Amino acid sequence: METTVASCSKQTLVFALNGEKVELSGVHPSTTLLEFLRLQTRYKGAKLGCGEGGCGACVVLLSTYEKEQVHDFAVSSCLTLLYSVDGCSVTTTEGLKDGFHSIHERFAGFHASQCGYCTPGMCMSLFASLVNAEKSSRPDPPPGFSKLTVSEAENAVAGNLCRCTGYRPIIDVCKSFAQDVDMEDLGLNSFWKKGEGAEVSKLPTYMPHKICTFPDFLRDEKLQIRSSSLSSPPVSARISGTESLRKGQHWFAPTSMVELLNVMESEQGVQLVAGNTSSGIYKNVNDCGSYVDLTHILELSEIKKDDYGIEFGATVTISKVIDTLLEEEKILGSERGLVFRKIADHLNKVASKFVRNTASLGGNLIMAQRKGFDSDIATLLLGAGSSVKLQMGTERFTLFLEEFLQMPPSNWNALLLSVHIPSCGQDKKAIVDGISNVGKHAEETRLLFETYRAAPRPHGNAVAYLNAAFLAEVTNDKVTGNVGAGHLRLAFGAYGTKHAVRATKVEEFLVGKFFTPSILLEAIRLLQAEVVPEQGTPSAAYRSSLATGFLFDFLRPLVKSLDGPVRSVGNNIGVGDINGAIVCPEFVNNSGRKSTVLTSNLANPKTFTAISGDGCTEPSIISARQVMDIHQDYYPIGQPTKKVGAELQASGEAVYVDDLPSPKDCLHGAFVYSTKPLARIQKIEMSPSLASQEFVTLISAKDIPKGGQNVGMLADEPLFADVLTECVGQPLGLVVADTRKGACIAAENVNVCYDTENLEPPVLSIEEAVSKSSFYQNPSFYHPEKFGNFSDGMSLADHKIHSAEVEMGSQYYFYMETQTALAVPDEDNCMVVYCSTQIPETCQLIIAKCLGLPEHNVRVISRRVGGGFGGKAFRSVPVATACALAAHRLGRPVRVYLDRKADMMSVMGRHPIKVKYTVGFKDDGTVTALHVDILIDAGISEDCSSSMLITIPEALKKYNWRVFSYDIKLCKTNLLTKSAMRAPGEVQGSFIAETVIEQVASALSMEANAVRRKNLHTFESLKVFYGNCSCAADYTLPLVLDKLLASSCFDSRAEAVKQFNSCNRWRKRGLSVVPIVYKVTMWPKPGKVSILNDGSIVVEVGGVELGQGLWTKVAQMTAFALGKILNDTGEDLLKRVRIVQTDTLSLVQGGYTAGSTASESSCEVVRLSCNVLVERLTPIVAKLQENKEQVSWDAVVLQAHRRLLNLSASTYWVPAPGTSQYLNFGAAASEVEVDLLTGATTILRTDITYDCGLSLNPAVDLGQIEGAFVQGIGFFMLEKHVTDYDGLVLSDGTWTYKIPTVDTIPRQFNVEILDSGHHKNRVLSSKASGEPPLLLAASVHCAAREAIKAARSDLRAYSNSEAPSPVFRMDTPATMDYIKELCGLDNVERYLRSLISRS
Ligand SMILES: Cc1cc2nc3c(=O)[nH]c(=O)nc-3n(C[C@H](O)[C@H](O)[C@H](O)COP(=O)(O)OP(=O)(O)OC[C@H]3O[C@@H](n4cnc5c(N)ncnc54)[C@H](O)[C@@H]3O)c2cc1C
Ligand code: FES
Ligand code: FES
Repeated sequence: METTVASCSKQTLVFALNGEKVELSGVHPSTTLLEFLRLQTRYKGAKLGCGEGGCGACVVLLSTYEKEQVHDFAVSSCLTLLYSVDGCSVTTTEGLKDGFHSIHERFAGFHASQCGYCTPGMCMSLFASLVNAEKSSRPDPPPGFSKLTVSEAENAVAGNLCRCTGYRPIIDVCKSFAQDVDMEDLGLNSFWKKGEGAEVSKLPTYMPHKICTFPDFLRDEKLQIRSSSLSSPPVSARISGTESLRKGQHWFAPTSMVELLNVMESEQGVQLVAGNTSSGIYKNVNDCGSYVDLTHILELSEIKKDDYGIEFGATVTISKVIDTLLEEEKILGSERGLVFRKIADHLNKVASKFVRNTASLGGNLIMAQRKGFDSDIATLLLGAGSSVKLQMGTERFTLFLEEFLQMPPSNWNALLLSVHIPSCGQDKKAIVDGISNVGKHAEETRLLFETYRAAPRPHGNAVAYLNAAFLAEVTNDKVTGNVGAGHLRLAFGAYGTKHAVRATKVEEFLVGKFFTPSILLEAIRLLQAEVVPEQGTPSAAYRSSLATGFLFDFLRPLVKSLDGPVRSVGNNIGVGDINGAIVCPEFVNNSGRKSTVLTSNLANPKTFTAISGDGCTEPSIISARQVMDIHQDYYPIGQPTKKVGAELQASGEAVYVDDLPSPKDCLHGAFVYSTKPLARIQKIEMSPSLASQEFVTLISAKDIPKGGQNVGMLADEPLFADVLTECVGQPLGLVVADTRKGACIAAENVNVCYDTENLEPPVLSIEEAVSKSSFYQNPSFYHPEKFGNFSDGMSLADHKIHSAEVEMGSQYYFYMETQTALAVPDEDNCMVVYCSTQIPETCQLIIAKCLGLPEHNVRVISRRVGGGFGGKAFRSVPVATACALAAHRLGRPVRVYLDRKADMMSVMGRHPIKVKYTVGFKDDGTVTALHVDILIDAGISEDCSSSMLITIPEALKKYNWRVFSYDIKLCKTNLLTKSAMRAPGEVQGSFIAETVIEQVASALSMEANAVRRKNLHTFESLKVFYGNCSCAADYTLPLVLDKLLASSCFDSRAEAVKQFNSCNRWRKRGLSVVPIVYKVTMWPKPGKVSILNDGSIVVEVGGVELGQGLWTKVAQMTAFALGKILNDTGEDLLKRVRIVQTDTLSLVQGGYTAGSTASESSCEVVRLSCNVLVERLTPIVAKLQENKEQVSWDAVVLQAHRRLLNLSASTYWVPAPGTSQYLNFGAAASEVEVDLLTGATTILRTDITYDCGLSLNPAVDLGQIEGAFVQGIGFFMLEKHVTDYDGLVLSDGTWTYKIPTVDTIPRQFNVEILDSGHHKNRVLSSKASGEPPLLLAASVHCAAREAIKAARSDLRAYSNSEAPSPVFRMDTPATMDYIKELCGLDNVERYLRSLISRS
C-alpha cells in the first residue's frame, strides 16, 4: 500500500452521541450507525423497522460543522455507515430528554403514540424540521411557537410509517409547533378540554434552542481529530467491544482526487460510497471488502453556477440539490427558473427527507446506469438535457446523460465527478444541446417543462410505475391560434427498461407540427411502440397507458378543439387548465395554479392544492374533527386520559423485547426457510467456511429433547419441517451464532438438499385445492346457518345475478416491531422467555410441549408489543419456541429478531378469499335471496382459520337478505399458513355484502346508497339474523346512519359530486356510505390488584398492552373502582396505579389478547378484584369516620397494613351465560377523487360515526377507530400482497409492499363517537373499538367504484363498440393500476378517436 493510500485509511473515529464523546477503533467498515446504537450503547430509541430506509423507525439527527455553521438533518441510521459520522454529532430521541422534551410530551398529550415503535423516529423527524425551521430568516414566531409552517409540519413525518394511529394525531403534534396553526384546528388532546380554549400556553413549552445539537468539544476537536486520523494512532475506545477490523477491510476517507485515484488504483474491489442509501435497495452488497468514502473530496461536493445552469459535484445530496435549485429559481424568476423548480418539486417526491439528506445525486445516477435502478433523477435530468463529467483512469470525459446511460454497465469503474443541469432562461442552447431552432419566432416561443411520476404513494417513498420529464419549445401561430413544437425532449423511465430513454420517434414526429387531436393520436401510437416495458415487467399494460396519459396531459392544453380554451403561448402555458374542466368555475389556489373549485361541501376547500404534473393531488393540509361526549358517570372512566407510558415510548425509554440488554453469553438466531413448496428434506448442512469463523450451529427438529414434541403451534404445525417441507417459507431450522449478522449470513448459506421424487405436485392455489378436494375438515362447532328457503326467495325476485365473482387478496400485518423473543435458561431446567406476543399462555404451553417440560418450568413475559394486529398471536409462538429450544439445547440465552424480509417471507396475514354469489332482487332494489360460496386459502396448517367459518357470515349478515345461505370451505394448500389479522373474516364478510349491494344497484341503475337503505335491517330482521345479541334500544345503526348523513352533508355532497363529474373529464369523484354490524365476543380474563405499603397500586391482567390502550383503560378502571372507598373521583388514585407486564407464572389463564375485547374483559376483572378490596377496606373507613380521623387513601392503607389485611385480590372473570356477545354498529361516508389518466385515488373526505357505548376512554377509542380505518384503507386500496407461483412472497419489504402513509389518508377526517347510553350486559356500558372500524374503510373502495362508474359512463359515450359494462367486478385491493384498468387503459385514445370522428 502506498503512503498516500495508507494515510487515508481510517481505523479510528470520534463523534458525539447525545452530547457525549465517543471514540472507537477497529470498527468493521460495514457497521451501520443503527447497529452501533442498538448493540453498543444504552440508547435504544432508534428502532430497526425495515433496514432499508423505508419506514423511519431508525431516524436520528445528524449534525455536521462546516464553514463555521452547524448543519442538522434527519437520517436513517440503518443506512448510515458508522465511519460516515466521524466528526459529526448524533442526537437520538434520548438526547432530547431533560425530563421529557415538549415533542415527547405532545406526542403523549395528543394521543399520537399507540404501540410506540414508530414514535422515536417520528419525534426525530419532527425535531429535525423544527431545528431547521429555527434557522430560517423568518420573523420570530409568537412565544410558544416555532418558525415551522403548517405545511412544513405535515411534511415533517412524510416518510415515517405508523401502522397504529392512522397519522392524524401525529400530524396534530407536528402542527402544534407551527406558527401559522389555528389552535382550534388541533385535535383531541389532554392539554385542554373541549370548549375551554385552545391556547399555546397550555401546551408543554417549546424552547427552540434548548438542545445543543453540536457540542462545543467536537467543534473544537474537529480539526484535531482529522489530523490524528491521518497518522492512524491506536485510540482507546471509550465504548469498547466493537467488531475488530477484518484483514484487508478498510475505510478510506481520501480528501483529494489524488488520494482517491491512488486508492482506486492500488486497492482491488473497493466499494465507493457516498450516502450508502443504495444498501437499502441492494442488500448485503456492502458486507465485504473495503470502502472509499467520497464525501470528503472537495471537487466532488462543489456546486458551481455558470451561464448555462448549475454543475453539482457527484456527492451533493438530493436535499442540497433541491435547496440550490429553488434558490436559483428565486433569482431567475418563475419563467426562467421553470426547469429548476419543476425538478426540485419532483425531487421532493424521491424517497423521504431522511433518505434524501444523505443520498447523493451521483449515487443515484450510478445505480441507474449500472444496475438499471428505476431512477426518477435519471429521467428528470434526461428530460432537462443534462450532462455528466466522468473520470476513467486518468482521463476525463463530458457526456450527455443519454450517452452515459447507454454505456455498457459491466466491467466499468468510472468515477462520476459531476452533473450539469442546464437552466432554461439564460441560454436555451444549453437545454437543446445546441440544436435549438429558437430565433425564428423568438418573440412567441416559450419553453415548457413538466415532470410526472405515478406511484402508489403520491408524495414519495414509493418507486414509480413510470416517470417522465417533458421539455418543449412551443410556438403560437398568431393567425390561427394553433400551437406547435419547435423542439421536444420526451424522457420516460422506471417502466421496465434498463434505463430512462427518450421517445425520439415521437419527438421527431411532433417537431414542426401544430398540435391537433389527430396528431396527438398518432404521437400516442408511436409512443406505444417506443415505450415498451420489457418482458415480465409487472403491470406492463398499465405502464404503457401511463406513458400515454402523461404525454396527453402535457400536450392537451396546447391542442385546439380539446376541452377548454387553448391557452396562448404565455406565461401560463404548460401549467395548464387542469383536468379537462369544461364549464366549472375556477379558483386560484395557494400555489397560484388554477384548479377546479371543489364543489362538494368541504370545510376547507382552499386547502386543496392543484393537481400536480404527476397526475396526483399534492398533499394538502389535513383537517379533522372529532365529536364525542365525555361522560362523568364512572370518573375517571370515560375521560380521554393520555396513554400510559406514551412519553416513555416517545423518549426511547420504553423497553421492547429487542431493547432488553443481551444477557452474558447470549447467542442470536436466524431461521432457515424452505425454498420448495413440497419436498422431502434430505440434508441440511452448514457452510463449513462459516462454521469455523465464529460460534455457529444449526438447531433443527433433531435437537428436540427426549419427551418433547416437534410442535410450533397447534397440533398440525411442526416447529421445524423434519422429513417433508410443505411450503416455501416454512422453517427448517434455526442457525445460532455469536452475532445477529453472523446468524443471518450463516442462515443464507445453509445448504438444503430436497427431493421431490414420487411426490404429488403441490397444491398452490384455491383452484388446485378445489380440483384435488384438498380441504380442511369443518370443525364440529360449524353448522352453516340458513335463513329461509333459497328457491322461494329467488322466485320472488324480478332480477337475478347468477354466479358473480369477487376476490380479496391477503394483507400482511406490518407491525413495526417484527417477531422477536429472548429465551434465557434458568436453574432447575426452567426457561424464561421474553416475547412480543398476544398470547403468552399459548407460548408457554407450546414451549413446554416442545421441550418436554411441565408448564411451570416455562415463564413467558410480555411487557409491551410493538404492534400486533393478530400477527403476534399464533404467529409469535414458533419464534418463541425456536428460541427456547435453542437456549435449552445450548444452555445459553438465545434471542431472535426477524429482519423485515424474513418476517414477510414467513408470516402471512389475512386469508385470501374467492367468492361466488347468486342474488335475486326486486325492481326497487329489495334483495329477496342471497347464496354465497366462499373458498378460503388457509395454507399448510389450520391455525385459527376455522374461526373464519363463523366470522365471515356474521359480518355478511349485516343486511337483511330475507333469504340467506352460504357454503364456506377452508382450502389446504402448500402455501404459508394464514392467520388472524385485525377483523379476520369480518372484513371479508362485510365487503362481500357491499359487493352484492353494489352489483344490484348497478344492474338496476340505482344509487347504491339507496339499495343499502332498502336492505338495512329493522330490529325485527336483526333479531332473525343475529338472535338475541342486541335489544331494540341497542340497535343504534339507524341512528348512526342518520347522524352520519346529516353531519357529512351527504345529500348535498352527492349532488356536488354529480356536478363535478359532469364538469370534469379526467377526474371523477365518488361518494359512498357503508354501515357495519359487528359481533364481538368477550372472553374470560384473570386479574390481580394489590395495594402496597405506601398506597401505590400494582395491577396485573391477562390482557397484553399492544398499543391499544389496554393499560390505560385498566388504570382508569382501577382508580374508579377503588375510588369508591373514599367516594373519591379516582383522579388521585390514577397516579398511584402501575400496570405490570404479563407473566404466565404470576397470573395464569391469561388467554388471548385478541378480538377487540381484551381491554373490556381486563377492566371487568380489575373492577371485580377492586370490589373485593373495597369490601375489605370499607370497615376501616367506617372506623376512621367513627373516630373522626382523617379518611384519606394513605390513612386507610396504613390502617389496613396494621390490621394485617390481605391487600391483594385476584379474580378470574367469566362472562355470565348469554352475555358474552354483543353487536357493534358504525358507518362511514367517504368521498374520493380518481385520476383517470393514472388511476390514482385521493380520499378527499371521510366521516365516521361509531357507537362506542359509554366509551371507557374516548381518546383511546378514537385512536382505535382512526387507526383501524387507515389500516383498512391499506387492505382495500393499497396493500397488494404478491407471491410467485411456488408461493414465495415477493412483497418482502417496504419497497414492494405499501402500507398507508400520511399522504394517503383522508384529507378531511371526521370522527364522531356516539355515546349510546347504558347497558347492563357490557362492561360499564362500553363497546369494542379495536377491529370493527377497519370494515368501514370499504366506504373508500365503494366510493372509488362510484367514481369508476362515472368514468366508464364517459367511456361508453366515446365508444361505439366494446363499451365497458356498467356492471363490473371490483376486487381488493383496488390499487392504482387496477383502477386505471377499470377506467379504461385506452381511455385517452378512445376519447381522441371519438373527437376526431365527430369533427
Ligand atoms: C427508501 C429509499 C427510497 C428511494 N426512492 C427513490 C425514488 O423514488 N426515486 C429515485 O430516483 N431514487 C430513489 N431512491 C434511490 C436514492 O436516490 C439513491 O439510493 C441515492 O441517491 C444513492 O446515493 P448514495 O449517495 O446513497 O449512493 P451510495 O449508496 O453511496 O452509492 C450507490 C452506488 O453508486 C456508487 N457511487 C456512488 N457515488 C459514486 C461516484 N461519484 N462515482 C462512481 N460511483 C459512485 C457506489 O459505489 C454504489 O455502487 C431511494 C432510496 C431509498 C433508500
Ligand atoms: S429501519 Fe431504517 S428506515 Fe426503517
Ligand atoms: S404507534 Fe406508530 S407503529 Fe405503533
